[in-house]
Amino acid sequence: MHKNIVLTGFMGTGKTSTGRLLARKLGTRFIDTDTLIEKEAGIPIREIFEKFGEVHFRGLEREIVKKVAEENGVVIAVGGGAIVNPANLTDLKRHGIVVSLTASVEVILSRVEKNIDRPLLKVEDKLGKIKELIAVRAPFYEKAEITVDTDCKNPEQVADEILELVISVSD
Ligand code: S3P
Repeated sequence: MHKNIVLTGFMGTGKTSTGRLLARKLGTRFIDTDTLIEKEAGIPIREIFEKFGEVHFRGLEREIVKKVAEENGVVIAVGGGAIVNPANLTDLKRHGIVVSLTASVEVILSRVEKNIDRPLLKVEDKLGKIKELIAVRAPFYEKAEITVDTDCKNPEQVADEILELVISVSD
């Protein structure tokens, strides 16, 4: 059995772009839980939040995480809030090495500023909201086996760094 590589971390840390690249390098499949949630719901995440609220979204996310956690040898990117639920982290760790991507709040802001698809950041003071959420979530992101800082790096560099670190923890 090959372990999955699971990418977690705050919005804008590059989970999706890095994950896609990492999967290509490994010749395996890339799974993005947000994409699966949208497929299942038939509407974008933004609309799930608007129509049904965050609690409903977390329920859908929980079901998708349960499913993808059973995979073997794939790269999985989960939404930035997924591992705040300890059950999600436990499931993902069963078959996977969890990698947390980090970035400074300024870099995160610059990456998410123009994007309207992040309902939790649909507020006037985006920087304040990013800081507030990261303060709550940092202890959860720290539960990953590997942490990679993504400031001033492109997805290619981040993917290569992850590959090296994954090999060293698997040895
Ligand atoms: C969320 C992050 C989003 C998405 C949803 C909630 C969060 O995913 O799951 O908007 O709680 O941080 P990305 O981290 O891929 O942007």
